[in-house]
Amino acid sequence: MSTGYVPQEILDEIVARCDIVSVVNEYVPLKRKGSNYQGLCPFHNEKTPSFSVSPGKQIFHCFGCGKGGNVFRFIMDIEGVSFLEAVERLAKRANVTLPEKEMTAAQRAKLEQRKRYLKINNFAARYYQKILLETEAGRPYREYLQKRQIDEEIIQKFQLGATPSGWDNLYQNLKKRGVTTQEMLDLGLISASRREGQYIDRFRNRLMFPIGNEKGEIIAFGGRIIDKDSSPQKYLNSPDTPLFHKSRNLYGLHLARNSIRNQDMAIIVEGYMDVISCHQHGITNAVAPLGTAFTPEQGRLLMRSTYQIGISFDGDAAGIKATMRCLDILSDLGATARVIQIPDQADPDEFLKKYGKEAFLQLIEDSQELVMYKIARYMETTNTDSIRGKMKVVEQLLPDLRKMQSAVARETAVRLVAAQLQVSEKAVWEEVRKPIDSGEHLRMETEIVQSPVENEINAGKIESPVEKNILRILFARPDLLREVEAYGGSELFGSAGAALYREFAASIARSGKVESANIAQEQSLFLAELLMEEVYVTDQEKALKDGLRQLKYEQLNEEYRRLTQQLMELEKEDVGEVGAKKAMQGALLQKLDTILQAKKEFETGRKGEK
Ligand code: UTP
Ligand code: MN
Repeated sequence: MSTGYVPQEILDEIVARCDIVSVVNEYVPLKRKGSNYQGLCPFHNEKTPSFSVSPGKQIFHCFGCGKGGNVFRFIMDIEGVSFLEAVERLAKRANVTLPEKEMTAAQRAKLEQRKRYLKINNFAARYYQKILLETEAGRPYREYLQKRQIDEEIIQKFQLGATPSGWDNLYQNLKKRGVTTQEMLDLGLISASRREGQYIDRFRNRLMFPIGNEKGEIIAFGGRIIDKDSSPQKYLNSPDTPLFHKSRNLYGLHLARNSIRNQDMAIIVEGYMDVISCHQHGITNAVAPLGTAFTPEQGRLLMRSTYQIGISFDGDAAGIKATMRCLDILSDLGATARVIQIPDQADPDEFLKKYGKEAFLQLIEDSQELVMYKIARYMETTNTDSIRGKMKVVEQLLPDLRKMQSAVARETAVRLVAAQLQVSEKAVWEEVRKPIDSGEHLRMETEIVQSPVENEINAGKIESPVEKNILRILFARPDLLREVEAYGGSELFGSAGAALYREFAASIARSGKVESANIAQEQSLFLAELLMEEVYVTDQEKALKDGLRQLKYEQLNEEYRRLTQQLMELEKEDVGEVGAKKAMQGALLQKLDTILQAKKEFETGRKGEK
């Protein structure tokens, strides 16, 4: 995609601020369905909704006409405008200023100013770090970190620092370097003193935590007292500034991102020290909100790297409340959220220090999925001896049960609720399936909730990414059906893939394309899953052929394995008559020969293609 003159970070900013669900909802009324939203496709005529928007992935897709993409694509298609025009419109909506092709003087100045702000913060961070590591004033802070078992490497990694005592050390220092008072005020590094014309440092006598953005640019600071008498406020953070919005950043994200991607999981902890302690103990996928409640923007930020998010807040009442909120935010975004519970009301930092990494990994292993966690909490706070109490718990859980993506998980949850409340599973299922009175758009809608029996049909999923890819391409390019047929058609696929493929083939034979509306119910679930995955293929025909060849090759290999296995077993077996054994071996060998021949052709053919 050509981004013209718009830098990637600005595009990211627009995407972060223009939630695709609300943008689309201005054109198409959407209703919640599972973790997605659904409505009538604005790009083709239809009576039943096959147009789907994923808040987690920030994409849309129509199963009917195949249109899909991100928020820019949506505006391009619906307004019939170019990419840059779509960017401009959304930027305006989100209040994001775009640099001009020919930047105006004011815009250039703004960009320059941002660079200066970052430089100033950088200087401040280095100043704080020097005090921590190299001065006498830093000694108590060094000792404090040592006491908390934070070593030099982590101090460097997190660029920790300290402020000396005194009112205006940083102020004087920055002034000497030509930083204006206004700039320092803008960045929240100083504040005006009661005495007119005088300024004092915002952070004094504190252990300093620079806060990075996604790229690791220092955009703000947090400071902690280490002597509880020095200030009533344990932590002090930068205010929101031109560089920093606390609701849109996460502490430690730039340091955790790689690990989050590699492990396909993120852990949200409560505070600075928890993040640092996690990293110190080798749990490097931990991040924290910045002294406020977790926000959807922060959720989306994490979900650019993973959909699996563990929450590990304090075990006290406030922590449980925060956990519930965070769970709801994440599940509304379509993430899979789990709760990592720390025993004895401890926080991750205390737990790690006491029991170490392995024990913490075990807690992650034992973590409860949203509904399980909620059941336990509601059961704790409601008297479930009475019918009224039981009804209340079920009622509280209904929205979450309905929202659950995995049929297996839902079934397990229903079973658990029923068992805990000592009511029949059937009764709970009935509640879950009851339609909710429809209200305004964007509220939770009843999903088609299936009972266990119905679920069994869907037990097998299409696991092979190659199969998925082939089906995805075929959906977009029905004219390529004959290619697939030439390679053996449904025989190439596993059972779930073959079932969907047969639906595709039948539909293409009927009307020349895949009509998702006519796909059988159980297969349409696979289809939805398949198409919601974001995959960019430039040359579909080539990708399809590569995929087919791979499947075919795997099939040949599998057959080869099976035959050699049979031969070996035959060798060991006592067949009685020598002649019979020979004949069987002969037949097998002949088959093996055919396979080998095919494999060989295949391998040389593949080489020849390159
Ligand atoms: P905690 O008090 O749990 O701090 O506050 P912590 O991170 O565990 O730190 P230690 O272990 O006491 O050193 C959790 C988070 O809440 C915010 C900070 O972001 C902190 O990391 N907070 C807390 C404030 O912003 N201000 C405060 O006065 C206290
Ligand atoms: Mn703590």
